[in-house]
Amino acid sequence: MGTERRPRIRRGRTLGALGAAAGLLLAAGCGAPAAPDGPDPHSWSHPEQVRVTHLALDLEADFEARRLSGSVRLDLDRRDPGAPLVLDTRDLEIRSVRDGKGRPLQWRLGPARAGLGRPLAVELRPETRSVVVAYRTDPEAAALQWLDPEQTEGGRHPFLYSQSQSILARSWIPCQDTPSVRATYEATVRVPPPLMALMSAENPTEPAPDGVYRFRMPQPIPAYLMAIAAGELEFRPLGPRSGVYAEPEVVDRAAREFAETEEMMAVAESLYGPYRWGRYDILVLPPSFPFGGMENPRLTFVTPTVLAGDRSLTALVAHELAHSWSGNLVTNATWNDFWLNEGFTTYIEVRIMEALRGKEYADMLRALGRHALEEELDRLGRSSPDTRLALDLAGRDPDEAMTDVPYEKGRMFLERLERRFGRRAFDAFLRRYFDAFAFRPVTTKDFRHFLAAHLAKDDPEALEEAELWIDMPGLPEDSPEVVPEAFARVDRQFEAWRSGTPADRLDAGGWNTQQWLRFLGHLEDPVPVDRMAELDAAFHFTDSANAEILGAWLRHAVRSRYRAADARLEEFLLEVGRLKFLEPLYRDLSATEEGRARARALFERASPRYHPITRAAIRKILNDAGA
Ligand code: BES
Ligand code: ZN
Repeated sequence: MGTERRPRIRRGRTLGALGAAAGLLLAAGCGAPAAPDGPDPHSWSHPEQVRVTHLALDLEADFEARRLSGSVRLDLDRRDPGAPLVLDTRDLEIRSVRDGKGRPLQWRLGPARAGLGRPLAVELRPETRSVVVAYRTDPEAAALQWLDPEQTEGGRHPFLYSQSQSILARSWIPCQDTPSVRATYEATVRVPPPLMALMSAENPTEPAPDGVYRFRMPQPIPAYLMAIAAGELEFRPLGPRSGVYAEPEVVDRAAREFAETEEMMAVAESLYGPYRWGRYDILVLPPSFPFGGMENPRLTFVTPTVLAGDRSLTALVAHELAHSWSGNLVTNATWNDFWLNEGFTTYIEVRIMEALRGKEYADMLRALGRHALEEELDRLGRSSPDTRLALDLAGRDPDEAMTDVPYEKGRMFLERLERRFGRRAFDAFLRRYFDAFAFRPVTTKDFRHFLAAHLAKDDPEALEEAELWIDMPGLPEDSPEVVPEAFARVDRQFEAWRSGTPADRLDAGGWNTQQWLRFLGHLEDPVPVDRMAELDAAFHFTDSANAEILGAWLRHAVRSRYRAADARLEEFLLEVGRLKFLEPLYRDLSATEEGRARARALFERASPRYHPITRAAIRKILNDAGA
């Protein structure tokens, strides 16, 4: 099989030429690059010339105006003495730029490019070691969601939270917004009492009476892991190094759901070495949070839809915790290497769950992941370049990489290596990898070399196979499918139903969430409406309190036009902002003319309550669906 090589990101110009070009940009306003020409196609910055090493934020949250305002001091490592500092910004209002001594510096904002925002170029004096930018955010800042009290569980106070991944940190902090640059940070944040402010840093456990909070993040992190939240929050400890923050109405339920967190940490540490971030806490957000979870260091953000009441969805915590190694410690150098974050993390997530709940449970997660991947491959087309692990996202929104491919194909690739070399050797290899690249960026090429130098040393056949996994679209043909016995039982019951056994006569007693998801995964749309009603009468899917089961069921309801679930569907779309559920539902609705009208009407009502990320993603689906 021949592998197609993609054109590489242009890196050709010399440092001097780049510096001159940026200088010209300051002087004359021309010669500004029309697109990023640094090492990361999604950042305007040139860290090879000037690198930010530390940030000191001083911000006040104004909930009326929906703005953060204040300043950031950026400490610099100047590698090319003549070069300007180039920062990423998006919709920021820059008020002034000064050096560490308070003297004004010359600065200029370049033209905006969709999604990437505008470069902020600052001319430095020979002795400049730090730069202070005074600024405020836009009320529509893409990373921030400002919630009215009605959108919270308690309904008493407003709420604010950020989501910086992939390239949205620049909409609330002028920074070098590339995963290849790491900086430590400190912050002073003012919020109206009695709100508690939290960051991806050392956090308080009690609200401050004056609303002033100080934060410190002593480990260097990339900009996409900068995070902030404020709301009426309480803290409950889970173990000596872990705890959970949530609104008062939710916090005890959350503490019960996440009781296994400390055990998950112990498992991950036994496999991959010490947890390097001090504490591991979890913040439960309001339901509009666009993701399942976000691995903000020291403080994972999670959706409340993970609170199933029976710990059946807590693999999500294992996942975000796993990022403490794969992602936060060893970080994809650009978003083209996203699978190095998510594939490794999904692999580790399943290993943690295997240690906690056994092999059969882990195999259920693997099989569900495989099923999701197959569906995604069908949707994308099996020869699409977007089904490769090594992506080319230059000129596109990096969030387009967020398909099941980097997650599940990445996991399966690592499991393939594990099978080939044995678990002991593979575990040792991964541990060594995390130590070798700790606090550094990695490219797919770095990983290839590391594999060739260690695990696959003297094994050209294994290396060749690895190349195929990395470079080829689709899935290698010999990827074995694991069907745990617990799923084989489900499959038999599904067959029985298909061939005539009434739903209420099926033997489904004691099935867990994953088994129900397996069952629902077998339904082929459109399912006749009376058959949907039969299943609903027997198993009460429309009333399910489990967001994963409900999400899967509603999808079938839409595709099969089972209108009895309409009210529940509306309620769900109005409350929940999690893209994993919303995108397929809006996509399926948009497939018919009548559904499109409903989707539009629903979006009209729901969108003021969605995070800007959700709003943009759903708007795109509706636009792509046409009139
Ligand atoms: N880091 C991701 C979330 C993310 C990816 C945000 C890309 C923005 C751009 C997080 O770790 C994640 O993968 N979340 C998953 C959870 C899961 C697979 C268990 C999610 O949100 O569904
Ligand atoms: Zn992840």
